[in-house]
Amino acid sequence: MRVIVPRFGGVDRADWRGMSDPLATLSALLSPVFTELAGDRAEGGAAPDPTVRPSDRADAQINGALPLAKRIGTNPRELAQAVVDSGVLAGVASELEVAGPGFVNVTFASSFLEAQLAAIAADDRLGVPEAPQRLNVVVDYSAPNVAKEMHVGHLRSTVIGDALVRMLSFLGHHVIRENHIGDWGRPFGMLIEHLLDLGEDIAAEGLSQGDLDGFYKAANAKFTESEEFQERARDRVVLLQNGDEETLVLWRRLVEMSNSYFDRVYRKLGVLLTDEDLAGESRYQPLMEGAYERLEGTELLVEDDGAMVVFPPGFTNRDGDPLPLIFRSRTGAFMYATSDLACVIDRAERLDADLMLYVVGSPQAQHLQMVFEVCKMAGWLVEPRQAIHVAFGNVLGDDRKMMRSRAGESVKLIELLDEAIERAGDAIAEKNPEIDAQDREAVAAMVGIGAVKYSDLSTDRIKDYVFDWDRMLAFEGNTGPYLQYAHARICSIFRRAGTDRASVRATAIELAAPQERALAMRLLALPTALDVTLESYSPHKLCTYVYDLAVDFSAFYENCPVLKADEPTRSSRLALADLTARVLAQALDLLGIEAPEQM
Ligand code: ARG
Repeated sequence: MRVIVPRFGGVDRADWRGMSDPLATLSALLSPVFTELAGDRAEGGAAPDPTVRPSDRADAQINGALPLAKRIGTNPRELAQAVVDSGVLAGVASELEVAGPGFVNVTFASSFLEAQLAAIAADDRLGVPEAPQRLNVVVDYSAPNVAKEMHVGHLRSTVIGDALVRMLSFLGHHVIRENHIGDWGRPFGMLIEHLLDLGEDIAAEGLSQGDLDGFYKAANAKFTESEEFQERARDRVVLLQNGDEETLVLWRRLVEMSNSYFDRVYRKLGVLLTDEDLAGESRYQPLMEGAYERLEGTELLVEDDGAMVVFPPGFTNRDGDPLPLIFRSRTGAFMYATSDLACVIDRAERLDADLMLYVVGSPQAQHLQMVFEVCKMAGWLVEPRQAIHVAFGNVLGDDRKMMRSRAGESVKLIELLDEAIERAGDAIAEKNPEIDAQDREAVAAMVGIGAVKYSDLSTDRIKDYVFDWDRMLAFEGNTGPYLQYAHARICSIFRRAGTDRASVRATAIELAAPQERALAMRLLALPTALDVTLESYSPHKLCTYVYDLAVDFSAFYENCPVLKADEPTRSSRLALADLTARVLAQALDLLGIEAPEQM
């Protein structure tokens, strides 16, 4: 058994930088110890992992001695004891106990947790370090279609994409938002002709009111009924594709009318998208020819039944036959895949994107996987450059089918948002009758929109979820209002105390009660929660963190009197409450959710 001479006399502050999470600190301090203990016997394999985990019996548990003992053929309990004897956790742990077959239970020294709290309280970033490497990240999200209603699927893409944009930006990455709207293609022939029939002013009225479906359906009805209209629509597509100036002007009008409606939805939702972020399909039209030629140059392209296609390996149809991705149809037209090909090349070469996130519904999974695969084969998507489909499931109604309005149509997003705000207003009026009308209106918007966003973000994005007004607006449980309420409650403690929150920020926090320790450990874990969330681009993981934080705060507040406590406990608890409110607000902000000061 190798015995380690303690090399760390206490813990060097520098080792903790960017490591507010006590569990991460343990890992960092223990890694070299494990490597040392493994010695030559573990050479060639992966570096041994201390495997630090939360624990029910203590503050944390070190589990890595067992697998390492097995690997190097030694007694796990003795190895665990050697970890303890290394002394590297002096100052960090107040108690280390070898347990069971070779775990180490860790109790953190209060002084260590208190020092960590002081460090994050003094930090505007609350202990979250910037990413060591600043990446160019393109986030493709929202992407509604011109002259078509934005439905709940676009809500999902918009809300998930916005949260990822906020998190990645917070970590210091250079984030490029791209709203890949559907603003090109065959339907524009009939849409433009319908626009001309109606007259621009009348069309503008309907479209800017958000009656996109009405417009589209009317155009479609005429197309089915009238041969004369069909002919005009077809001619118009040709004019559009040939860049006829007059047609382009009409097309642009149509796109602008839709965009101004989309903008209203975005403002109401409080997402970061602006007109600057528009990168619709039309942008890639002029790039398709070149992209296609480059594909021809790779010899991946083959003829299949008159069409020009690529067969990326690993994709088959129901009969098990290789599945083609079509880049040029039999009639010579470029396809959706061709525009996405041009789009990947543009993102790789013009934007120099290290990472491309496609926040697009699951039904497009195969299309995107095939596009990415072709781009890899052709050498346009070469590691470390990466494209990832951030897929998501459907929003379901009470009947567990795709959500529809009572009339059986897709639900208009803007009406849904208005209803959320209205319902939130009612709930607030009931909970807090004293709030004045103006404040109530402002808070209702934050709570209503927050509730819709949180219910979307808090389920694993891959899964479908049921849109349920009562559940999402409840002030109890894993909901937006519950988290906002936890924040508002802390603000109200300070209002009652007549104390300015900023004034307690330098106060030393002393941890005594178990609820205080638990809350402290949670507060320190924000950076880990963010890392874990972005590892799989799953906002629900950050939601779980914020929810746990709110629950920990409730337990603290129920068990530890704040305003009635004697000094210095009172000040310490106020400081702990203030820090909690800051972390809550920060984490909610990263989800795109506002934190009102009263509710
Ligand atoms: N507009 C498309 C839709 O509504 C989504 C576009 C997604 N982005 C992309 N690069 N294909 O289905």
